[in-house]
Amino acid sequence: MPEETDLYGLIGHPVEHSRSPLIHRLFAEQIGQLIDYVLIDAAPGSFDETVAAFRERGGRGLNVTLPYKGNAFRICTHPTLRATQARAVNTLAWTPAQLIGDNTDGAGLVADLRENLGVELQNRRLLLVGAGGAARGAVGPLLEAKPAELVIANRTADRAVSLAQAFAPDGPVRAEVFEDLEPSFDLVINATSASLSGHVPDLPSAIVGPTTFCYDMMYGRHPTAFLKWATAMGAAGCADGIGMLVEQAAESFLLWRHVRPDTAPVLEKIRQSLS
Ligand code: ATR
Repeated sequence: MPEETDLYGLIGHPVEHSRSPLIHRLFAEQIGQLIDYVLIDAAPGSFDETVAAFRERGGRGLNVTLPYKGNAFRICTHPTLRATQARAVNTLAWTPAQLIGDNTDGAGLVADLRENLGVELQNRRLLLVGAGGAARGAVGPLLEAKPAELVIANRTADRAVSLAQAFAPDGPVRAEVFEDLEPSFDLVINATSASLSGHVPDLPSAIVGPTTFCYDMMYGRHPTAFLKWATAMGAAGCADGIGMLVEQAAESFLLWRHVRPDTAPVLEKIRQSLS
């Protein structure tokens, strides 16, 4: 009898271009396990029933992507602290009695910065640009890394203020409007969706100094609009979010399989698959 293969998946809308099946297959291969990882495109309004059906058919866990991270947070009975802080869930796991929801995005970002890129966070001045879901997921894990300060700036200033207020008990975080940002930061993270449409947030060029590292959560075949801008401003280094994608997947894999895979060879393969 062949051993039963555990089933996982990614639920979102759309999902067809996702690299997650390849990433998780490579992780499983690395530790000599077999898993199935499927893409589930859930039509608007069908998230809850699609998750229930996946559990019914014996699925063991799900990753959740746009636009359902908030829905996943709402349906889970046991959110982790970081999911509660982010108010969003990108990883679901379950027992018959519990629906566990975690958010591995921020941890994935921090792992990519520190482990893969060698960017120091402790005692550094960090700027997080954006105040949507992607930014919210990053604030808790960034503050845990004990920066000197974390400044949040957003095109719509009020959203940055609310986000900074929500995390004020957790560390030195404050909001600032774009035009009042003072030079220069050790690290600038773009958590806006502007790169998706080829735009760059209207930031003062002085925030990027000769020692500033710039990071875009977005990624693609070519450098994002933000990273092109950062390079033109003289940034010391730049990286896109492909490492964050692989690291958040590794954190999900850890939750499901209790092993954290070696991400370096997988990151290399995923980069190749993009080019
Ligand atoms: P996500 O979950 O990807 O963060 P979101 O919640 O819709 O998506 O948030 C998108 C973020 O990108 C917001 O911070 C948005 O700024 P506003 O709050 O002012 O809308 C930001 N954003 C999108 N396009 C932008 C642009 N062209 N310039 C600057 N910020 C932009």
